[in-house]
Amino acid sequence: MRALSTLFRVGQSLALICGTSHVVAASQQARGAGTGNSLDGRTYDYVIVGGGTSGLVVANRLTEDRRTTVLVIERGYFDNKPEAIVPWYGNLLDVGVIDFVPSAPNPKLGNAVSSVAVASVVGGGTVVNGMGYIRGSKADYDSWEELGNPGWGWRGLYPYFRKGTTFDPPTPAAVSQWNITWLPEAFGRGPLHLKIPSFQYPDIATFWRALRNQPGVAVPRGANVGNGPGAYWTPSTIDGRTETRATARSAYYDPVYAQRPNLHLVTGQTATEILFRPTSQGDLTAKGIRIVSRADNQTRNVYAKKEVILAAGSVMTPHLLQVSGIGPASVLGAANITVKKDLAGVGANYQDHATTMTRYSLSNQSFPNPDTIFLNATYNATVWAEYLSNKTGPIAGASATTLLLLSLPHLLNNSFSTAASLSSRLLAQPASQYLPEIYSSKPSLLAGFKAQRAILARNFKTNDLSLVAHALLGNGFFPGPLLKPLSRGTLYLNPSDPHSPPIIQFNTLMNPIDGENIASMVRHGRRFFASPEFAPLGEITELVPGSQYQTDKEILDVLTGNADYLWPSLAHPSGTCAMMPLRLGGVVGPDLRVHGVKRLSVVDASVIPLIPGGALQATVYAVAEKAADLIRARG
Ligand SMILES: Cc1cc2nc3c(=O)[nH]c(=O)nc-3n(C[C@H](O)[C@H](O)[C@H](O)COP(=O)(O)OP(=O)(O)OC[C@H]3O[C@@H](n4cnc5c(N)ncnc54)[C@H](O)[C@@H]3O)c2cc1C
Ligand SMILES: *[C@@H]1O[C@H](CO)[C@@H](O)[C@H](O)[C@H]1NC(C)=O
Ligand SMILES: *[C@@H]1O[C@H](CO)[C@@H](O)[C@H](O)[C@H]1NC(C)=O
Ligand SMILES: *[C@@H]1O[C@H](CO)[C@@H](O)[C@H](O)[C@H]1NC(C)=O
Ligand SMILES: *[C@@H]1O[C@H](CO)[C@@H](O)[C@H](O)[C@H]1NC(C)=O
Ligand SMILES: *[C@@H]1O[C@H](CO)[C@@H](O)[C@H](O)[C@H]1NC(C)=O
Ligand SMILES: *[C@@H]1O[C@H](CO)[C@@H](O)[C@H](O)[C@H]1NC(C)=O
Ligand SMILES: *[C@@H]1O[C@H](CO)[C@@H](O)[C@H](O)[C@H]1NC(C)=O
Ligand SMILES: *[C@@H]1O[C@H](CO)[C@@H](O)[C@H](O)[C@H]1NC(C)=O
Repeated sequence: MRALSTLFRVGQSLALICGTSHVVAASQQARGAGTGNSLDGRTYDYVIVGGGTSGLVVANRLTEDRRTTVLVIERGYFDNKPEAIVPWYGNLLDVGVIDFVPSAPNPKLGNAVSSVAVASVVGGGTVVNGMGYIRGSKADYDSWEELGNPGWGWRGLYPYFRKGTTFDPPTPAAVSQWNITWLPEAFGRGPLHLKIPSFQYPDIATFWRALRNQPGVAVPRGANVGNGPGAYWTPSTIDGRTETRATARSAYYDPVYAQRPNLHLVTGQTATEILFRPTSQGDLTAKGIRIVSRADNQTRNVYAKKEVILAAGSVMTPHLLQVSGIGPASVLGAANITVKKDLAGVGANYQDHATTMTRYSLSNQSFPNPDTIFLNATYNATVWAEYLSNKTGPIAGASATTLLLLSLPHLLNNSFSTAASLSSRLLAQPASQYLPEIYSSKPSLLAGFKAQRAILARNFKTNDLSLVAHALLGNGFFPGPLLKPLSRGTLYLNPSDPHSPPIIQFNTLMNPIDGENIASMVRHGRRFFASPEFAPLGEITELVPGSQYQTDKEILDVLTGNADYLWPSLAHPSGTCAMMPLRLGGVVGPDLRVHGVKRLSVVDASVIPLIPGGALQATVYAVAEKAADLIRARG
């Protein structure tokens, strides 16, 4: 990563300005953990695997009742570096606390091998992510309910989105300068603070003039109330009280652990196996977790009286299930893992937001713009000094807070009839043709995909579902994540070394309609940047893919031929333990319990049956808030 050289100095200043809370948290971080010896053989009401986003939310809520004991097992450590605290670092990847889990060769991307980024740190993805906060649309969550999950539609989730969040407004001066709007009713008084930063780069005003005149695109006062496509101001996970990154740790762990002797968290401990109670055949009951210490390789067992809760994320949760004997028998058999429960869906249904790195150059950008920090050392020094003394300016933010969400009709130049014909073609596809091989031998997986496809095909014809989210900073960087992929991947253990990281098969662009939608996205970008409102930005040149590429094939050939142009993952892995009925290839039910296994739940991004039309963290936080209520209610 950039910016390593002066970290130490900045770190010292930050320790002064960021207050003592993080420092205190660091020194007392793992109460009761010690070397791990004191853990061996201990029993808690709940054992949670993964002290990341969902794990810390659930741990916080379950320990509100001081009689309930919870142990959180986290393989990473507490991170008090500036990268984990200063908002601007959301621009960079903090590779020290990220694992890159490798993929298999990706057939439609020239067999390129890539990876998915997964956090390994207390707070999980929220410590390393770009901080963008956007909920999906009503249609996104209503589709979950339609897939057999009563209570998981927008109406069921909205209270949890509100419960978890507090909105910190920008300054009145910024509100009037940039015309920033939001809907206060979208938020509550929850632990996670969200903010639209007061600092904006001046050219964003030009973008807003263009956004207000996009044919067919709504410009509502605010996002996050279930509305989908449109142009919005959206917040970032930044705590306005401290102007620092708001994470699952800072929101749900640091403020409570000192008052809760019933909340235990150990770091540097990897869960390697789910332990089951020996019972008569067909009756599988989780009783605990085997953990291995990263410090000394010591193995220990910990036990859960009530439930084992998996919150290790979409990559590691299905892997842990598989190495523990829960997953498709064929996959486990190939790795010589004894099958305890043949569950077809574990590791199937992989969805992510493959992203086209579309880029334009603008010949007449204002000063400053998002690139200035990297190019002008004087400006860089000035804005860091401003942040360190006043906590204002560009270092107090990172990701774009202007978002353009577009439906399929929007991408197709507002042609509802073209969208409808694409929808019909989708439904006419032989469903198994573009799916991973395992879908052919498992009728439930195929049925689940068909159910998803029917919903997507219906929503594709409307302006209710977002197919792409362009996050705009006020420059020519215009990445396009494909929010509603039809291709499905798999995530299976490595048969020759089951305990090594799993192998992801992204299967990007396997379904040709995904490619069509990417080409439509590129064409929409061309129409957008041709808007007359952009004239002050000077000459606009399309750098990626390049305006000489016109047909779908030409556009896709360029994008798929260069690993920098089309990323198979935007670090949004989802769906690998989908919440759907068994007959649809699901892994957990609407109560989040693993089908056919007792005392075992999943609460992380892997339960998402259909990936939402927006970045993931807002959804993961809300799922975890609801999960805690469900688990608490069954006592
Ligand atoms: C680089 C990056 C950028 C992103 N940008 C954005 C963004 O701007 N906006 C947005 O909305 N979303 C973003 N996301 C996605 C979002 O942060 C994640 O979807 C979300 O945090 C996932 O939450 P989770 O609880 O499912 O998993 P995580 O938060 O990843 O938590 C899983 C935890 O389990 C631990 N763990 C895993 N295996 C084991 C094991 N065997 N034993 C013990 N512990 C284990 C991990 O170390 C981790 O702490 C980004 C993600 C990344 C990685
Ligand atoms: C900007 O300043 C920060 C803090 O001093 C420093 O870490 C970083 O390297 C600088 N970046 C550039 C591009 O000069
Ligand atoms: C804000 O809105 C006013 C009135 O609609 C408009 O004149 C002005 O250009 C807008 N400013 C920006 C930065 O969008
Ligand atoms: C733990 O075991 C692994 C694999 O056997 C080995 O590579 C590593 O060095 C060990 N670590 C420690 C701290 O003993
Ligand atoms: C670099 O930044 C400084 C401080 O903001 C500014 O005065 C100067 O004009 C900038 N230089 C260029 C070439 O933009
Ligand atoms: C901090 O804010 C004050 C008051 O607005 C201003 O005078 C000062 O220059 C700022 N400091 C820095 C380093 O920008
Ligand atoms: C988009 O639609 C408008 C209005 O129907 C039409 O004038 C324009 O030519 C179309 N643009 C393209 C590139 O198809
Ligand atoms: C699985 O077990 C069989 C028989 O015990 C053995 O021959 C084979 O090599 C094992 N395969 C793997 C991948 O370990
Ligand atoms: C360049 O942008 C400035 C405003 O930042 C504007 O005054 C000027 O007219 C623009 N130049 C061109 C050639 O468009």
